[in-house]
This record gives sequence, C-alpha cells and structure tokens, in this order.
Amino acid sequence: MSTQKLPRRDFLKLAGLALAGTALSCSGLGYVATRVPDTVTPELTFGEEIPMTQRILVTYATRAGSTAEIAASIGETLAARGFSVDVTPVKDQPALDGYAAVILGSPIRMGNWLPDMVRYVEAHQTALNTLPTALFTVHMLNTEDDETSRDARRGYLKAVRPLLPDAENVYFQGVMDFSRLSLLDRFISRMVKAVESDQRDWDAIQSWAEAISIS
Ligand SMILES: Cc1cc2nc3c(=O)[nH]c(=O)nc-3n(C[C@H](O)[C@H](O)[C@H](O)COP(=O)(O)O)c2cc1C
Repeated sequence: MSTQKLPRRDFLKLAGLALAGTALSCSGLGYVATRVPDTVTPELTFGEEIPMTQRILVTYATRAGSTAEIAASIGETLAARGFSVDVTPVKDQPALDGYAAVILGSPIRMGNWLPDMVRYVEAHQTALNTLPTALFTVHMLNTEDDETSRDARRGYLKAVRPLLPDAENVYFQGVMDFSRLSLLDRFISRMVKAVESDQRDWDAIQSWAEAISIS
C-alpha cells in the first residue's frame, strides 16, 4: 500500500477543519450545525409511455441538490433516445431488477463520494458488475486538464472504482451555493475560500447522456 505525504500547510488546514467540526458536533450545536436546508430529491420517470423499451435506472446521492438536477437531465436525455428511465435518489434504495443499465452519481465532499452511495455500491456490487454501469461524479475542484488534477479526480473514486472496475466514468462540475448548505458545510466552505458559482455545463451533461453506450 502506498502512502502520500500531505504538505504541512494542508495538514494544518485539514486538522483545523476536523477539530472545528468535532467541536461543533460535540457542543450541542451539532444538530443545528449539520442540518441541511430542505433539499429536493425528486423521483422521476421518463419515457414510460414508450412500448417494449429498455429500462434504465439513474440513481443519485446529493446534499444540496445539484447532483439531483444533473441526474434529472441525464434521465430526460436518455428518454429522448427512446429508453424508459427512472431517476431515483439512492436514499430510496432502488432495487435493480428489470433494468438494462444503471447510472450512479454522487457529488464529492471532502474528497469522497457521499457515504450513502458508497454503501449502495458495496451492497449491490455483484449485480452492478453484471449490468452496463456508468458513474458520474460532481465536483468543484481539480477541474484542470493536467496530471495533478487528473490524479485528484481519479482519487475521488477511490471507494467505488475498485468495486466497479469496468464502469464508464465521467466528471461534471457542480454548484457552490451557500444557501443550500448546512452551517458546518458553509463554515468549511468559507475556511477554504470557496466561491459561490454554478459551473454545470448542461451541454456537456447532455452530450454525455446522448453518447453513452447502454449495451
Ligand atoms: C463541505 C463541502 C466539501 C466539498 N468538498 C469537495 C472536494 O473535496 N472536492 C471537490 O472537487 N468539490 C468539493 N465540494 C464541491 C461539491 O462537490 C459541489 O458543491 C457539488 O455540486 C455538490 O453537490 P450537491 O449539490 O448534489 O450536494 C465540496 C462542497 C462542500 C459544500
């Protein structure tokens, strides 16, 4: 196993964030600090009316809603290709029976896919590996086309890539909207000097969904 050394400044920053988070959680302010403003996690169906078509599941995790909106756009685009598509939040634990393909999406928080999606992949690893499967990752950092950024993006998949080695894979830029974050996440975002913006490239999202192979 290889270990990577963190630069001292990054280490201190991370240690500071972890301490601040623990302090908030233990101080009785935990509930207030981690409560997320109401996030819409829609369950949608597209292309239901198309007879004898293949069904695709698009399941997603989200904290602030931007990944849900990307999942819906992917679903709509696949339906325009003639598929019947269910777009379902992973918290509903969708069963995989009857699907011809599965697309799984998660945002990145602190360098990782969200835990509920990682647990879903772990629980359904065997079935997922028998189906055409694709992963989409929503993130804000490491967006450049250089080796450092590419390495960091690959690192975002460390929990799921080994479980689904053959899955197709894509990265989309997301949204930073403080009004959709918990107090703690807003605090962390301000500490790392995050800037509010919506970087989603709807053309890129649509093009990917138009081109993805379902067999
Ligand atoms: C607390 C916090 C931590 C984040 N950590 C990362 C990160 O490590 N790397 C990254 O590229 N983006 C990071 N992001 C950006 C999110 O991936 C981005 O905001 C995404 O669109 C959120 O998706 P959601 O709206 O579906 O929750 C972070 C955002 C927040 C609020």
